[in-house]
Amino acid sequence: MAKATDVRPQSLARIKTEAQAKKFIEKQIEEIKKQVGDGKVLLALSGGVDSSVCAALIAKAIGKNLTCVHVNHGLLRKGEPEMVCKVFSKQFKTNLVYVDATNKFLNALKGVSDPEEKRKIIGKIFIDVFAKEAKKLKGVEFLGQGTIYPDILESKVGIKAHHNVGGLPKDMQKFALVEPVKFLYKDEVRVVGKALGLPENMVNRQPFPGPGLGVRCVGAITRDRLEAVRESDAILRDEFKKAGLEGKVWQYFTIVPDFKTTGMENGKRTYKWPVVIRAINSVDATAAQPVELSYKLIQKITKRILKEVPSVSRVLVDYSFKDPKLNSATIEWE
Ligand code: XMP
Repeated sequence: MAKATDVRPQSLARIKTEAQAKKFIEKQIEEIKKQVGDGKVLLALSGGVDSSVCAALIAKAIGKNLTCVHVNHGLLRKGEPEMVCKVFSKQFKTNLVYVDATNKFLNALKGVSDPEEKRKIIGKIFIDVFAKEAKKLKGVEFLGQGTIYPDILESKVGIKAHHNVGGLPKDMQKFALVEPVKFLYKDEVRVVGKALGLPENMVNRQPFPGPGLGVRCVGAITRDRLEAVRESDAILRDEFKKAGLEGKVWQYFTIVPDFKTTGMENGKRTYKWPVVIRAINSVDATAAQPVELSYKLIQKITKRILKEVPSVSRVLVDYSFKDPKLNSATIEWE
């Protein structure tokens, strides 16, 4: 049986307008103050919509009694750690602990090509790094979490493990949870984020997997291919934005496979990586349709990638669909 606290209150109307969001924000600030008092809250801040909105709400309620830990696993998109640090230390003035653990993650991932093994290693080290930072803080009693309503619903039917709490060390599992957006759907979280003054590109951020670019750098991750994924992804996002597609396409990114192909440069043959473009629309990621991209846009992106990413000599487009009933492709390549 679902706990009473896991059922969306009937009095909570769908949040669609800024005015509704502002009312929700005021109420949550009050509730957080009531729950936490003078206590200290710790939050793992990925920079995704859910954890960012959750952090912003808690920050508004308790200010410096919130400590956000942003772990950079080296698999984030270009500019992401910088944006998280700017927003949460300058704009929201939280205690922000930024940990660049790139070397730790990449060393542990060296030579590991199995996607699930990669995910396990990334997940385990993430918890280790987060727990190590948490141990340094004194007097924490609460854990802030950007749980949203679909997480609760999915965990009830066994699709997703609810929260990451299960993976945390014992001494952290005793923290009480502060989950101010747990009854909101994603579109509502975005409206609240906007009303809180979070930047547009953070609020409208497309889904991004926890293992980040690690599952888009196919096979064993190497620094040169990871760089090719990061740079080509930044170019793709920039061109989608210029073409007015930002916020209109559900998910778009690049992939770098672990094989090389022959190319040409200065009259000589080269042997370099290909880049794959993937752009899909979906409702809930269980099925996905490829987005039709114009020839002009593909050419523009291709020219930029070949000019700006020297380790790449070929650009492909993945037009595969995802349909769980048919022989088909997943959204990510791994
Ligand atoms: P697939 O590739 O399974 O992806 O069709 C469905 C959606 O989930 C995202 N995804 C992940 N998200 N951890 C995450 O937090 C993961 O390990 C992971 N793998 C895939 C993917 O980006 C897509 O939106």
